[in-house]
Amino acid sequence: MKNKAIIITGANGNVGSYFALKFLKLGEKLILLIHKNQHRLQYLIKEYPDQIALVKADISNYTTLGKNLNSTIKTSNWIPKALVHTVSIRNSDFQPLVKSDINLCKKIIDVNLNGTFNILKIVIPYFKKEKYGKIILFGSNVTRIGLPRGSAYAASKAALANISRSLAYEEAASNIIINTISPGPIRIDESHFSESYREFREKYYKEKIKEIPLKRCASFEDIFGVCKFLISEENSYITGEEFFITGGKL
Ligand SMILES: NC(=O)c1ccc[n+]([C@@H]2O[C@H](COP(=O)([O-])OP(=O)(O)OC[C@H]3O[C@@H](n4cnc5c(N)ncnc54)[C@H](OP(=O)(O)O)[C@@H]3O)[C@@H](O)[C@H]2O)c1
Repeated sequence: MKNKAIIITGANGNVGSYFALKFLKLGEKLILLIHKNQHRLQYLIKEYPDQIALVKADISNYTTLGKNLNSTIKTSNWIPKALVHTVSIRNSDFQPLVKSDINLCKKIIDVNLNGTFNILKIVIPYFKKEKYGKIILFGSNVTRIGLPRGSAYAASKAALANISRSLAYEEAASNIIINTISPGPIRIDESHFSESYREFREKYYKEKIKEIPLKRCASFEDIFGVCKFLISEENSYITGEEFFITGGKL
C-alpha cells in the first residue's frame, strides 16, 4: 500500500483537519481537497510535506474539480484507496423554509448533494480500476430526525445516506465499500465565531445535551475511530450502512 492515498474533502473543516492529522500520524498519504480556507492545515503541510498533496476546488464545479483532482493524482503518482467526504454547508440563515432564502437552499443542494455526485463520479473510476476502494460520506443524525430551520441541509444529508445505500449495490462487484457516518452534535472549534454566535451555540448545546443519554457531544475521536475501521482493510463486508454516532440519542 506504499503509493496509496486517502482523499479527504473539506480538509480544512473541523472534522476534515482532525482526520488529516490522525491519518498523517499513522503514516498515510493524503490528497486534501480544500476550498477557500486552509488555516487549519498550515501546520500539517509544514510537518508532513511528503505525505500531503493539496487540491483546491469548489466541489460544486464538476469540470474544475475533475481537472484539479485528476492532475494532482497524476503528479503525485499516488493511487486513491479511500475517500472521506466531509464537505458541507448549512442553513446559515436559520429560517423556517417559508422564510428562507431560496438561493441559499439551492446552494446547499448544489454543494452538499451535487458536489457529492461530482466527487464520486471523479473518484470511483480510480477505485474500479484497482478493484478496491473505501468510501465514507458524512450524513448527520438529522437524516432520521429532521432539522427545524434547516430543511435544505437535512434533505441533503438524507440524500447522501441513500446514495451510499445505492452505490453499495452498484459498486459491490468492483470491491468498493461505501458507508455513511451520521453524527449528532460534535464539539467543534468555535474560536472563529463571533461572541454572540458563541453564546447562541452554548445555549443551544446546553439544551441538546439534555437529550443525549451519554450527556455530551461527540468528540472528533469518537467519529475518527468508526471512520478508521470502516475504511481499513479489516472491513470487507460492511457496506451501504448508516452509522449514527449520537451518544444514544435516537
Ligand atoms: N459539526 C457538527 O456538529 C456536525 C454534526 C453532524 C454532522 N456533521 C457533518 O460532518 C461533516 C464535517 O463537519 P464539520 O463540522 O467538519 O464541517 P465544517 O467545519 O463546516 O467544514 C466544512 C468544509 O467544507 C468545505 N466547503 C464548503 N463549501 C465547499 C465547496 N463549495 N467546495 C469545496 N469545499 C467546500 C469548507 O471549506 P471552506 O471553509 O474553505 O469553504 C470546510 O472545509 C459535515 O458533512 C457535516 O454535515 C457535522
